[in-house]
Amino acid sequence: MIAAAWTPICRVEDIPVLGSRRVERERGLDVAIFRNDQDAVFALLDRCPHKGGPLSQGIVFGTHVACPLHNWTIGLCDGQASAPDEGCTPKFSVKVEEGQVYLDAHELATQAIDLERPVAGPQKRGPHAPPLRGSLPPGGADPAWGGPAPDRRASKA
Ligand code: FES
Repeated sequence: MIAAAWTPICRVEDIPVLGSRRVERERGLDVAIFRNDQDAVFALLDRCPHKGGPLSQGIVFGTHVACPLHNWTIGLCDGQASAPDEGCTPKFSVKVEEGQVYLDAHELATQAIDLERPVAGPQKRGPHAPPLRGSLPPGGADPAWGGPAPDRRASKA
């Protein structure tokens, strides 16, 4: 295990009570640092385990944050979604000393750098999914999919 090299980030009072600040990284998504009403500080990847919502814009209560997109509740101590939801967002080590907030430089440089924020838009469709409304399946319309019947007159000639 590598000994932590603590990087100074900000003062506790620089983080809004029941709010957060984002820490940019050279690679990977930002890290969100949160402050609760007891002045405890936590750090999570700024990405909800549900659909990638920005947790830094969520509402902090106790030791949890409510995601601003669909209101999942994520534990600030462990990044774990509260049941019945499932999933986990990476957490980062935090040290607070005399009001100064530090994050582990090694974790900032290496942890969860491969995770991306999902792109908004339709989900990938399987090969047997019916066509989107107003589009035709490969090879033309198919009555089984509710589209117009193929023109059979052409085959009678
Ligand atoms: S993206 Fe966070 S609850 Fe859906």
